[in-house]
Amino acid sequence: MDTQERTAIPADLSLVLQVQRAGPAADGIQLIELRDPAGADLPPFAPGAHIAITVPTGATRTYSLCGDPAERHRYVVAVKREERGRGGSAALIEAAQPGSTLTVSAPRNLFALPAAPSYVFVAGGIGITPILSMIRHLRAGGSTPWHLYYLTRSPAVTPFLAELSDLGTQGQVTVHHDGGDPDQAFDLWPVFEVPTKAHVLCCGPRPLMDAVRDMTGHWPGSAVHFEDFGSDLVRPRADDAPFTVALARTGGVLDIPVGTSVLEVLRAAGHRAPSSCESGTCGTCRTRVLAGDVDHRDLVLAPAERVSEMMICVSRGRGQVTLDL
Ligand code: FES
Repeated sequence: MDTQERTAIPADLSLVLQVQRAGPAADGIQLIELRDPAGADLPPFAPGAHIAITVPTGATRTYSLCGDPAERHRYVVAVKREERGRGGSAALIEAAQPGSTLTVSAPRNLFALPAAPSYVFVAGGIGITPILSMIRHLRAGGSTPWHLYYLTRSPAVTPFLAELSDLGTQGQVTVHHDGGDPDQAFDLWPVFEVPTKAHVLCCGPRPLMDAVRDMTGHWPGSAVHFEDFGSDLVRPRADDAPFTVALARTGGVLDIPVGTSVLEVLRAAGHRAPSSCESGTCGTCRTRVLAGDVDHRDLVLAPAERVSEMMICVSRGRGQVTLDL
């Protein structure tokens, strides 16, 4: 099945859309439906796509489109109220009342559904949203087998539970609640122990994605896909420290402060630095390392690749790292 969207949409297109509906999808999660105020069709999106919404604080936040990609009359997003966040999601939930308008970007997709004979989906909590659009697409499009492992803390915080439980009666969905206890975490090893021709698509909190990455190390790298909007991967950690990057080919040494990525510093210094996801999941910013101690934080590089490469959008260094730039 060709799942790639080929409609040309200007990358900088922004839309002013009206909130048609807003209501809780689970504890702390608000479902928001957006439509064109005049009822026009919206730019199409492929399964796994997201939009960026300008929140009342003026910042933008990205949200996966969780509706049916075949629908052209609305975008549906699920917004989790981040209690320890910077207030963007909470402000958005307050502001997004029916009749209000929001500025959103055109859909963009960094987590496209690849063509595959079958799929294994692993969703942790709100990570269900891009996967839900994939499941809606697959259900509408035919008989490609898939199975979803949907892992959350409790039923109360699990959006779309009734809808997915209905699918579960057909044996395609496994829902597991761990009660917040790591000892009760679902054991995915039996799922991944023997590689198959399936593609694996995982979206959720960092520990879940790390676990899936570790358990699929013997799968073809091209068959395992992750989605993260950077919330966990790029967030500064308590033990972060400044370091320096030496540029072997162009010369110079750059300081990388806490809270700033190598990619950002390179760009600020006038270097061309390609990127896409900027959250350590796509592989675009892969850079050769000639020397130094790298703290790898991406979900792309295999252990053998980490010896000589790093993803400069998320990974950091200790002391000085020399790059082949
Ligand atoms: Fe995607 Fe760095 S830009 S991994």
